[in-house]
Amino acid sequence: MQNFTYYAPTEVIFGKNAEERTGKEVKKWGGSRVLLVYGGGSVKKSGLLEKIQKDLTKENIQWDELGGVKPNPRLSLAEAGVEKALKIGADFILAVGGGSTIDTAKAIAHGAANPELDLWDIWTEKVPLKKSLPVGTVLTISAAGSEMSDSAVLTNEKIGKKKGLSTELNRVKFAIMNPELTYTLPKYQVTCGIVDIMMHTLDRYFTHSKGNEITDEIAQALLRTVIKNGRKAFDNPKDYQAMSELMWCGSLSHNGITGLGAEKDFGPHKIGHELSAKYDVAHGASLSAIWKAWAEYVYMEEPDRFAQYARTVWGIQEMDSVKAACLGIEATVDFFRSIHMPVSIGELEIGVRPEEELDDMAARATGNDTFTVAKFKELHEKDILEILKKANH
Ligand code: NZQ
Ligand code: ZN
Repeated sequence: MQNFTYYAPTEVIFGKNAEERTGKEVKKWGGSRVLLVYGGGSVKKSGLLEKIQKDLTKENIQWDELGGVKPNPRLSLAEAGVEKALKIGADFILAVGGGSTIDTAKAIAHGAANPELDLWDIWTEKVPLKKSLPVGTVLTISAAGSEMSDSAVLTNEKIGKKKGLSTELNRVKFAIMNPELTYTLPKYQVTCGIVDIMMHTLDRYFTHSKGNEITDEIAQALLRTVIKNGRKAFDNPKDYQAMSELMWCGSLSHNGITGLGAEKDFGPHKIGHELSAKYDVAHGASLSAIWKAWAEYVYMEEPDRFAQYARTVWGIQEMDSVKAACLGIEATVDFFRSIHMPVSIGELEIGVRPEEELDDMAARATGNDTFTVAKFKELHEKDILEILKKANH
C-alpha cells in the first residue's frame, strides 16, 4: 500500500425527507445570505426548489437564485453566478441538482471568494486558490459524486475545453441525499449515472499498485452493488432500495475510498471529457462509448489485474488470466448494452466521426503530445487516437 492522506469531510444527511433539514444545515454552516443554484428546470417542475426556498425563509435565511445550469456546465454561467453572488453579498452557495449544478456552485464559491482573480485562471491553476465560500447541496441524481468529491468540472465554451479542478476547497460542507428525489429522472440519466458511478471506481481500480487488499475489496463490492442495483433501477426507477444503494455508491465511488493507497488512472475520463467538450454528449455516455476500446487497448499491460476484476466482480471462473480478462471486458460491455448505454462512438447520438475530428481530440487531450494522460498505460496522442479509432464504429 502506498502512503496516503484521507480526508472526506462532507456531512451526509441521507434518507426520506432529508431535504427538510436544508435550512437548519445552511445555518449550522454559517449561511445567512444564500445563492441557490439549479439546472434547467427539473427541480422547479418537481416542486423541490420551492420547498427549499420556503424552508430557507422559515429559518430567516435570505436567498436569491441562479438557474439554467446545463449538463457539461459552462464557464460563462459560473462567471455570471460569481457576479450575482457578489451583488447579493452571498456567504453560502447552495446547489440543488446534480453534478453540473454542484460543480457550478463550487466554481461560483471560488470566484466569489476571490473577486480579484479570473475564474479560468483559478481553474487552470495559473493562480493559486487559497479560499472559497462554503457550499452545500441537495442532490437529485446519483452519478458524478461531486457531493463528496474534491473535484469540479467546467467547460470553457470559448476554447472548447472541458477541465476538472481538484482541490480540498471543492469539498461541500453538507450533502442532503433523499433517494426519492431521483424518481423523476429520465431513464437515460439513471443509466448514465450507473456508468459514471462504476467508472469512478474502475478508473481507480486499474492500477499497477500492489498490496491494496482492503481498497480492492471495497472497490469490488461497490461494483457488484452498482451492477445488481443498476439492473433493478433500470427495471423500476422508483425502487427505493435500489435507488438508495445507487445514491450511496455514487458518493463512495468518488470520495476517494475506492482508490486509497494506489495510483489513479482516469484515462477513460480524460478521453470522455474530450468527447463531451466537442459534441456536448452526456458524461456517462461518453465513458461507456469508449471504455471497451480503452480496455481492449490496455489490458495486456497487466492481464492479471483485469482477470481479478473479472473473477471478483463478474464471477468468471476461467483460470487463464488473459482469457479471464477478455471475458471480464465482455461482461462489462454486455452490462452497458443491457441498460441501453452506447458502447461505441457510433452508438452515441453524434454517430461515427470523420478521422480529422478524432485527430483533434487526441491532440487536445495531450496538449499536442506535450504530456501523457493516465497511468495503467500512459497514453500519448497516438494511443488516444488509436482508442478513438477503435471506438469509432
Ligand atoms: O438541469 P435539470 O433540469 O435539473 O436536468 C438534469 C440534467 O438534464 C437532469 N436531472 C437531474 N436530477 C433530476 C433530473 N431530471 C429529473 N429529475 C431529477 N431528479 O439530469 C440531467 C443531468 O444532470 P447533471 O447535473 O449534468 O448530471 P450529473 O450528476 O451526471 O453531472 C454530470 C457533470 O458532472 C461532471 C461531468 O463531467 C458532467 O459535467 N463530473 C463531475 C465530477 C466531480 N465534480 O467530481 C466527477 C465526474 O467524473 C464528472 O466528470
Ligand atoms: Zn465521471
